[in-house]
Amino acid sequence: MTLSTQAGRPVPYSDLGDPLNPARSKLESMERPISLAGACAALTEFWSPRVLARVNDQYVKVARVQGEFPWHTHDAEDELFLVLRGALTIGRAAVDGGPVTLYPGEVFVVPKGLRHNTSAVEETWIALVETVTTLHSGSERTGLTRSLDEQLRSLEMPGPVK
Ligand code: NI
Repeated sequence: MTLSTQAGRPVPYSDLGDPLNPARSKLESMERPISLAGACAALTEFWSPRVLARVNDQYVKVARVQGEFPWHTHDAEDELFLVLRGALTIGRAAVDGGPVTLYPGEVFVVPKGLRHNTSAVEETWIALVETVTTLHSGSERTGLTRSLDEQLRSLEMPGPVK
């Protein structure tokens, strides 16, 4: 089975590297627990998600956000947001229920086909669960858009405290 990246290049499952350990061939073969907050702390830029794990055809990602991410739609994939720290507002059209704000420990799923944006007044740490084919900003291409390859880059995390 193969996937298509943002560039349309097919990628065999076995070629998807583990961003925390490039020696491993698959994200789902984890050797140790990963701290979501620890991974957020290791991020150096806003709105640039990184893949931490894979479960079936979903990626678990983390991101640090502040300010606003542009409106977009994912035609074929639902998108789950979990707030770890701060507050994330998910914008929806009034006809779709209007904006919702998530606080630490809260999750919200944006269904496929629903136009949305995200914003945070203060620095906010989030986790996301997204189908592996999900594009960062859906069909839109923005200055903040990160490719899947960028999201799969390794993340330098401090080792376990001895
Ligand atoms: Ni989205």
